[in-house]
Amino acid sequence: MKREIKSYVHVRSRTSKQDFKVLDSFKNSTFYSLEELPDISKLLPEGRINILEIGFGDGKNLFQKAAFNPEINFYGIEIYKAGIASLLKKINSDDLKNICLIFGDAKKFLAKIDAPFFDFIFILFPDPWPKKRHWKRRLIDKEFLLLLKKRLKNKGRLIVKTDWQDYAKNLANELVNFPTCNNDDSLGFLRPIKTKYERKGEEEGRTIFTYISHLNE
Ligand SMILES: C[S@@+](CC[C@H](N)C(=O)[O-])C[C@H]1O[C@@H](n2cnc3c(N)ncnc32)[C@H](O)[C@@H]1O
Repeated sequence: MKREIKSYVHVRSRTSKQDFKVLDSFKNSTFYSLEELPDISKLLPEGRINILEIGFGDGKNLFQKAAFNPEINFYGIEIYKAGIASLLKKINSDDLKNICLIFGDAKKFLAKIDAPFFDFIFILFPDPWPKKRHWKRRLIDKEFLLLLKKRLKNKGRLIVKTDWQDYAKNLANELVNFPTCNNDDSLGFLRPIKTKYERKGEEEGRTIFTYISHLNE
């Protein structure tokens, strides 16, 4: 029997009529909702490197990486429909064929996949939920790390960046038993661009923490 996945998702903005139109026009081609998601391995060409970005926001990092690496498959999961619609427009205007986007909760998405599938999973600046009483809403906890580990291939890597010190400290504790590096230069051409939330963190004077972990070694 499958265990019920505990999850808390908070969608912070409304979706415009225009965004709904965009989502509709790419439905089941470049864009899928979790409820109608076919077998993930059939969405993009098989036998390639598969990269997932969870909570891609405005999608600038995902777009840049997909545009520069047409031979790699990129998948993005988000609950923010305006972000998905804006990225779909860019994917369409550049005619990218190596990317697909999914609307829904990352926990439910990962629970739906049966086997290790991803070579890299990026989580850039997950919602910090700064108040201690809201920490249970944070995306990354022990249970979620277990789910990530199961969906990463052998030697696959999880990359997390955060500008929130206590989130970083909790992460460091959870990752203590896995080989982890803190320098994203080690990712070479996959090094994430500075995202909107990285800039925000820097502007507000916070330190950026990076964790690149092999969960299956
Ligand atoms: C703080 S923003 C960071 C956005 C982007 N990665 C960046 O660095 O600019 C966190 C993003 O995670 C998304 N998110 C939060 N919980 C999620 C979940 N359970 N599944 C998928 N996306 C989620 C939010 O909608 C939001 O866009």
